[in-house]
Amino acid sequence: MNIKIFLFSLMSVAVYIFANCEITPVSNCFASEAKQKYTIGFSQATITEPWRLLFNKELRIEAEKYPEIDLIVRDGLDDEKKQIADVEEFISRKVDLILISPKVADALTPVVNKAMDRKIPVIVLDRDLANKNYTQFIGGDNQLIGRTAGEYAVEHLGGKGKAKGNIVEIWGGMAATPAQDRHSGFMDPISQEAGIKIINTPKDGDWKQDLAYDIMAEALDKFDKIDLVYAHNDPMAYGAYLAAKDMGREKEIIFLGIDGIPAEGVKWVYEKQLTATFLYMTPGAEGIRQAIKLLKGQSIPPNVILPTMVIDSTNAEEILKNNGLF
Ligand code: FRU
Repeated sequence: MNIKIFLFSLMSVAVYIFANCEITPVSNCFASEAKQKYTIGFSQATITEPWRLLFNKELRIEAEKYPEIDLIVRDGLDDEKKQIADVEEFISRKVDLILISPKVADALTPVVNKAMDRKIPVIVLDRDLANKNYTQFIGGDNQLIGRTAGEYAVEHLGGKGKAKGNIVEIWGGMAATPAQDRHSGFMDPISQEAGIKIINTPKDGDWKQDLAYDIMAEALDKFDKIDLVYAHNDPMAYGAYLAAKDMGREKEIIFLGIDGIPAEGVKWVYEKQLTATFLYMTPGAEGIRQAIKLLKGQSIPPNVILPTMVIDSTNAEEILKNNGLF
């Protein structure tokens, strides 16, 4: 090869590499994954609840800040088979990264393992899987949330060592880790109190208001004295409240939920339908922030835990005002 042509080719390659590097670290410029555009596949479990809609909205708003992201969102339609197919689609499209909020742990674990085997990083959001073979988990601390709700219940049923009362617990999806953790966290303080009893047999409320209504209607029928309802999310706490209201018994019961989204749980607390709710932030925005860090070559921690807080009559109004809902 003529030396001039050789030098020209060498320069062209250098210019091409430089143009594609932007200001990423040098090691990353030469890595095969250093790109100008990244495709992120987001597999959402369902969009049947307002919390999920807010989750998707926060995720999309954050993603729009990064023109280098092409985002594909799939709705699992509250059906684990559909959600597995969505992740399979991402794997065959060879996306750069998968975000997933799995409906249930066991059924979704193998397809996430498969993505990891194919070297596609996976960030798990909100609900966990059956093993830790993924890149990162982002979500609230459901044990802590359950424990905080349990302490709140003890305090409102007479205080530590003296608390008395009958509790109806309304479970979210029993195969989902937040429901399991919200139960076990709650039981920490509750099991210390000899005067407190969980009176109903555990039944899967699948996070749904109408199922919770039925569970509560059955409990109201069976038990003359119910002092407190602990539901694993706000829609179910509200469903239980409606069932009690229809029987004229809502005034004698304390209703506790979880999520605390302004237009729902916080509003219900402000209107005194629920006594309290415990914030469970959506991981939508943080999911995108962590994904972009990873795709740009930064290291990310294995867990990002989102904060919680108690929302009751002391702060509901202020939260509504801060969100333009008052
Ligand atoms: C929405 C939801 C929330 C709940 C979360 C738990 O699908 O049920 O209400 O906090 O999922 O994963």
